[in-house]
Amino acid sequence: MKSRFRRPRREADAGAGGRLRAGALLDVRVERILPGGVGLAHAEGLTVFVSLAAPGDLARVRVESTKGRAAFASIVEVLEPSPVRAEPPCPYFGRCGGCDFQQLTYDAQLAAKAEIIRDCLRRVAHAEPPAEIEVVPSPEVWRYRSRARWQHDALRRHLGYYERGSHRVCDVADCPVAAPPVAERLTRLRELLAEGALPQAAEFEAVAGDEGVALAPSVEPEDGREQLRRIDGETYRFDAGCFFQINHALLAPLVAEGLRGTADGGETALDLYSGVGLFTLPLARRFRRVVAVEGNPAAAVYARRNLAGASLTNARVETSAVGAWLARHADELGRADFVLLDPPRAGAEPEAVRGIIALKPAHVSYVSCDPATLARDLRLLLDAGYRLDSLRAFDMFPQTHHVETVVHLRAGSREQN
Ligand SMILES: C[S@@+](CC[C@H](N)C(=O)[O-])C[C@H]1O[C@@H](n2cnc3c(N)ncnc32)[C@H](O)[C@@H]1O
Repeated sequence: MKSRFRRPRREADAGAGGRLRAGALLDVRVERILPGGVGLAHAEGLTVFVSLAAPGDLARVRVESTKGRAAFASIVEVLEPSPVRAEPPCPYFGRCGGCDFQQLTYDAQLAAKAEIIRDCLRRVAHAEPPAEIEVVPSPEVWRYRSRARWQHDALRRHLGYYERGSHRVCDVADCPVAAPPVAERLTRLRELLAEGALPQAAEFEAVAGDEGVALAPSVEPEDGREQLRRIDGETYRFDAGCFFQINHALLAPLVAEGLRGTADGGETALDLYSGVGLFTLPLARRFRRVVAVEGNPAAAVYARRNLAGASLTNARVETSAVGAWLARHADELGRADFVLLDPPRAGAEPEAVRGIIALKPAHVSYVSCDPATLARDLRLLLDAGYRLDSLRAFDMFPQTHHVETVVHLRAGSREQN
């Protein structure tokens, strides 16, 4: 789409050689949403990355910074709103660093996420994406988050999330994406803050289960209580000190997708970055031997307890960084039939990808919360001869650009990629 842009408003907008300076104003047409959630536009020979944009917006933007031929800008005024622009309902939107997609209709959010995945596959993995990318919608697009981390500025008596691009605390009275019990916990902490009775901690982490909310550090006696979630007949115990997926309503379909194609089981399966065992338990019902590897000792303890609670004795949990563990133990394991990995946003360590390839699994399931690092790791697996068998995404994080993607890879010829 063509961009209409204006000349810098003031002489001072243009630096030496006519390059734009921070503070310059431009009128740009936003072409599409990129990985990272920013809008793409072009003006003055620059690629302009516009935060909180909708595809199709004509907007007056302020250049916040430049780097080479790239400018990073924020919207000053929407001159012609995109047909998919929505009114963000949250009063903190724009200031709070939590949500960056509230300006989009929900259908546009799903479309942008499919586009982000497609973009990463093409530009990072150099792989042809599937013709259709399904992003399974979240049953709840507000009040879905069962986990929250609140920053506490004791001096200013602020409690909330970091402001966009800063470590200043945005004081938040309510968060419309927080699940009701999590939002209630925030209200309670704010009452204590107002009374001057909130402990000095720099941040509080809340996580909801089926029967309550755990908080770390504890403020009230029940905060330290472990929580549990029942998903598809399995019971998972955890507390605020370990990872647990935040969108409860999508967990059963996510687990089913991660395990797709394993109903007939096999000899050995690995669950890498296993957390408290979300995939380990159902894997142990299908495979004769399961090894789970998790770096957080507290999560590994819960994974062992969750297996014991289900009387599953054919799985063991190793507490270790995945890459280092595979480097030490791949020989002893021999081959694996199935490897599931679900790393954090940084993706798998290179050593971990090398270790998986060395185990020669016929089937790899990669569950990812970051399409860019997923694509980086996929390239290595495709180069090793795996082929993309299926890809399906889940909107675990409505109102943000984040998306969960599940990719199945099968050992096969590299020509097919
Ligand atoms: C996205 S979570 C997935 C957890 C689990 N599969 C689930 O769905 O609940 C990633 C997990 O990897 C763990 N982790 C992060 N870096 C790791 C590493 N280098 N080695 C092992 N575990 C790691 C984290 O503690 C966290 O539990």
